[in-house]
Amino acid sequence: MFRNLFIKKTLSELETEAENQNSLRRHLTAMNLVLLGIGCVIGAGIFVLTGSAAALYAGPAVSISFAISAVGCMFAGLCYAEFASMIPISGSAYTYAYATMGEFIAWIIGWDLILEYLFGSATVAVGWSGYVVSLLEYFNIHIPASISQSPFIFDTNGWHSSGAIINFPAMFIVGIMTTLLVIGIKESAKLNNIIVIIKVAVILLFIGFGISYIDVKNWEPFIPENTGTFGQFGWSGILTAAGVIFFAYIGFDAVSTASQEAVNPKRDMPIGILVSLAVCTVLYIAVSLILTGIVNYKELNVSAPIAVAIDKFGTELWWLSPIIKIGAIAGLSSVVLVLLMGQSRIFYIMAHDGLLWKRFAKVHPKYKTPHVTTIVTGLFSASFAGLFPIGLLGELVSIGTLLAFVIVSIGIIILRKSEPNAPRGFRTPWVPLVPIMGTVICLAEMASLPLDTWIRLLAWMVIGFVIYFTYGIKHSKARQARKNLNQ
Ligand code: ALA
Repeated sequence: MFRNLFIKKTLSELETEAENQNSLRRHLTAMNLVLLGIGCVIGAGIFVLTGSAAALYAGPAVSISFAISAVGCMFAGLCYAEFASMIPISGSAYTYAYATMGEFIAWIIGWDLILEYLFGSATVAVGWSGYVVSLLEYFNIHIPASISQSPFIFDTNGWHSSGAIINFPAMFIVGIMTTLLVIGIKESAKLNNIIVIIKVAVILLFIGFGISYIDVKNWEPFIPENTGTFGQFGWSGILTAAGVIFFAYIGFDAVSTASQEAVNPKRDMPIGILVSLAVCTVLYIAVSLILTGIVNYKELNVSAPIAVAIDKFGTELWWLSPIIKIGAIAGLSSVVLVLLMGQSRIFYIMAHDGLLWKRFAKVHPKYKTPHVTTIVTGLFSASFAGLFPIGLLGELVSIGTLLAFVIVSIGIIILRKSEPNAPRGFRTPWVPLVPIMGTVICLAEMASLPLDTWIRLLAWMVIGFVIYFTYGIKHSKARQARKNLNQ
């Protein structure tokens, strides 16, 4: 059974699969993919986590943390882009790993991507709930904390009860987005485009109005002195904040999970990934500089930091606060949508390969969407969103995604050796320097995350191994095909 643990799919096998089994519709253009990327990237990271990262770890230098994370993502993104242009079928890093490092590593990465998208969608849903509750407050509608917060709190003293029962708004948004995804990707992509335009406009509004409210005294010192504890300000704080706000960049890789639905994946996947990453990096650095320039970083450990900054604008800009909150809500909604979509596509392709239960690979006869995986994903995501606090979910997602980035970066080096002549729509520049830099930066960010988060990642992986060795290994289609060939 353990023979062929590293069995690979060849590129030609993958291409044939893409041709034969493309029952999903191809209708996403380069522009759709860029918007899909931005739709997934700008969300709880910038709207929620920036404030606490500045207040607790980096101060105004959180903008340097954004730059560090962006560089790591860019290196990994360049590797993703080469893979996505070569292997244009669903499955993202999972499929890439299958072709380069074999089934077992592919399983690890697939399971890791499930962690990223499933818990990521739940994390952002919790952020969505916070902004909705705060917007409703503005209109004097009060949602009780008992049905709008996690029943658990996790902090340095461990787990406690918060007194709340469930985070209902967070579950609600997951339900709505799951329904949209079952009905059809085309409709969903259209809605996503509108939402992306709204949220980028709202961020530009914040930057445009905020710039004249900056008080440069808030930037002094730009890098607050380290307190003596690793990760609390100083350069180690900047690195820890980079690990925390790494969450803000998660999502551009989700573009690659939609390659089976792209019209011209070879050309458009790299455009989708790299352009969306570049746009978000510029916006993040600008927002974090303006935010910490308007409000002293010590006051930013709140659930809606951008709203706190707008309140400093004074009464003549009273109308801006609800608009920005509505924009944030729209922005967070589109992130939930894209993450749920990425998740159901990973399930779909893994089931299709025989590594997960066959039922997950079913495509709806009318809507042409993988409805079973979408609904199962929605149910799990809604449960996590209803039960767990945002910080715990977010750090787990960050570490899981960083691991995926490391594997993808190493994968490019292997792919250049194993398939040097295979046609590629896009080539990662300066191999092996770029993948090595991607690996090093992502590993450094992983190392800066708390031990608890590492333990949770390990626990998730153990569950994955149990499923692989009791189910996946026995039903793998790649193994079956090799067996038949050898008989
Ligand atoms: N990058 C996404 C966000 O910030 C996951 O919400």
